[in-house]
Amino acid sequence: MVSTRALAWTFGLISVVVWRSGRVAKNTILTKHPFPEGYYSEGEFSTDCATLKGGPDLKYCEDATFWDHLDSHGNFVDRTLLLSCDAGRKSWNTVMGPLKNPEPRGSLWFYQPDDKGTKDNTVPDPSRLKRLELKGYPAGHDFHPLGVEIYPSYAGNTSNLYVVNHARARTVIEQFTVSPSSPTVAKYVRTLSSPYFHSANALALTSPDSFYVTNDHLFTRRIPYLGHILPILESVFAFPLSFMSHVTLAHPASLEPAIKVHQFSALFVPFPNGITISPDGTNVALASTTLGEVRIYTRDAATNTLTGLIETIPVPFVPDNIRYNHDGAALIVAGHPHFPTLTAVAANKTRVAPSWVVSIDMRPKNSALPKVEFDRQAPVSAQGKASPVAGREVRTLFQSDGSGFSSSSTGLQDPITSVLYVTGLYADDGVIICHPSTKN
Ligand SMILES: *[C@@H]1O[C@H](CO)[C@@H](O)[C@H](O)[C@H]1NC(C)=O
Ligand SMILES: *[C@@H]1O[C@H](CO)[C@@H](O)[C@H](O)[C@H]1NC(C)=O
Repeated sequence: MVSTRALAWTFGLISVVVWRSGRVAKNTILTKHPFPEGYYSEGEFSTDCATLKGGPDLKYCEDATFWDHLDSHGNFVDRTLLLSCDAGRKSWNTVMGPLKNPEPRGSLWFYQPDDKGTKDNTVPDPSRLKRLELKGYPAGHDFHPLGVEIYPSYAGNTSNLYVVNHARARTVIEQFTVSPSSPTVAKYVRTLSSPYFHSANALALTSPDSFYVTNDHLFTRRIPYLGHILPILESVFAFPLSFMSHVTLAHPASLEPAIKVHQFSALFVPFPNGITISPDGTNVALASTTLGEVRIYTRDAATNTLTGLIETIPVPFVPDNIRYNHDGAALIVAGHPHFPTLTAVAANKTRVAPSWVVSIDMRPKNSALPKVEFDRQAPVSAQGKASPVAGREVRTLFQSDGSGFSSSSTGLQDPITSVLYVTGLYADDGVIICHPSTKN
């Protein structure tokens, strides 16, 4: 149980860091903005957005990812959605606490979107939703899924699926395979364990057998006695202590150690969280949660080395997961606009926390000056809450005071239907689906 004292520390220290750091604007994480119940930029929240109903286990979904089905030439055929959820998160959260009961397993879900994405299909069809069976998963092995990524399937071949798992003793990465011919069965391959995954959070695949992985903290809550305080200090002072790695795996059948190559990709990053690779492979974007910013690195696709930090883009909340959209023209960033409330939700002291999802314009810049006015449509505009960057306009896609949808952690946009999916770390209905209104 997170003690009131730890909570008080969190609040106190957040105030200190806000005072200390001009980078995270005061009103960004400590002011309760007057959010509406729900706002959706491409339609009406009340009629165009709906949550998926999947029973008591489909809640507290930290991450979601598209599983693309391509033909043998790499042309698009179809796309499904995978969700990573943990209904027991209020009893086991190694990032925010508490560490009470690691026993109940989290879940992975498969959703086959309807192909039209029109207003008539607003209410998601529950028959398209299935919980993944974890076939061959070791008995007695915990499952607390966080970041999830799956390699595309080419001409119906099997895809490798990787899931960060905040297991009781340590954080590991689970490897599964999923075949489009039985898409609701995840076959367990192996558990990847490494000192470099000690607080793994998010993944971005660079091949079927290699990926970037972020570690959110150097200090974790599992540290005896100091586990309540060190990670909080690390967060609120935005100590640049953590890191991101690139890992190449050996084939499961080989006798080599599972982790063939480990490279540090970026060191000394405060609370690295979401990570995403641009579709052309030339950039990697990383969310630094405590600094309230997204960092853009250049990437050498041949070696997976990050060759430089070229841009830093502030966002008006603490960012969680991030995704480039299909053509790299935008970055979708989901996060938490009122951190104290999120902390209180994690401690089960209140029920919901607000949500905010933005899109950042990532097209080549056509101006050296930031726009004077931007994000005018949103009930709470990003303008004035995050320093504007020239050519990197921040636009609100989704907002809620928490009553419409709580604690947004991932935003995903379907490139064909433009449907927006948002998952919520502590949302009772794990995912909300917003269909662009036909009037737009
Ligand atoms: C959270 O609080 C609710 C009601 O206040 C209670 O029913 C539930 O058991 C609590 N959950 C945990 C994990 O403590
Ligand atoms: C599926 O096909 C793609 C493209 O040829 C290939 O990169 C991938 O390794 C294949 N996956 C498996 C599991 O064989």
